[in-house]
Amino acid sequence: VVRLPPRGSLAGKHILVTSGPTHEPIDPVRYLANRSSGAQGTAIGAALRDLGARVTFVTGPASVPPPEGVEVIRVETAEEMRVAVEHALPVDAAVMAAAVADWKVKNASASKIKKDGCGRMPVLEFSENPDILAWLSRLSLGRPKLVVGFAAETDDVIAHATEKRLRKGCDWILANDVRPGTEIMGGTENAVTLISDQGVESWPRMAKDEVAARLAARISLALEGR
Ligand code: CTP
Ligand code: CA
Repeated sequence: VVRLPPRGSLAGKHILVTSGPTHEPIDPVRYLANRSSGAQGTAIGAALRDLGARVTFVTGPASVPPPEGVEVIRVETAEEMRVAVEHALPVDAAVMAAAVADWKVKNASASKIKKDGCGRMPVLEFSENPDILAWLSRLSLGRPKLVVGFAAETDDVIAHATEKRLRKGCDWILANDVRPGTEIMGGTENAVTLISDQGVESWPRMAKDEVAARLAARISLALEGR
């Protein structure tokens, strides 16, 4: 049984949510993307709003519309997302639900890449994108009191996510199994494990809205200092 906090328990709190995929241009008409729909991030933004938080919602090009009644900042690339996150500060808490592209195309072309007619393939080179979660978690000035990351894994979910929490320096990680066949990425349900310095807590598979409500309730308790 999940005890729901009263409406308004996050009143006066400013919470940042990142959501959706990022797109990394290859040329003006092509990009690299990922399977994030933005559904879990959107549900989290709505649940935090429902508890009275002021929500700044930084979203990549998601396939679901952002929550109503929150400040929406639309971005395309990981670099733009990092800048938008920086501009949203200070916040009391941050939930980094975006599926940020790990790499951008270093040799992205300013004009459309054409077939050369000789069967030669274009070669893409990559460089690493900024890790927004790690950067935010390690801010010496203005670090949110609570930083929550996600870890999308296809194997050894808990081991990888536990390591990720420590490596990135965030307070909580919500780990989920995104193996093909789980229908989590792009689906309506999620099965997450909450990892914190208090230990590991696996939640049953439930609707993304319910995951969001539970998370918002936990955030409200944490910000009250309980
Ligand atoms: N994240 C981020 N910036 C990045 C990459 C990831 O802020 N450039 C955040 C995501 O929003 C998520 C968390 O980091 O909250 C974990 O993302 P994930 O892709 O699972 O972790 P990575 O460190 O990128 O590791 P992996 O090699 O497994 O993709
Ligand atoms: Ca990644």
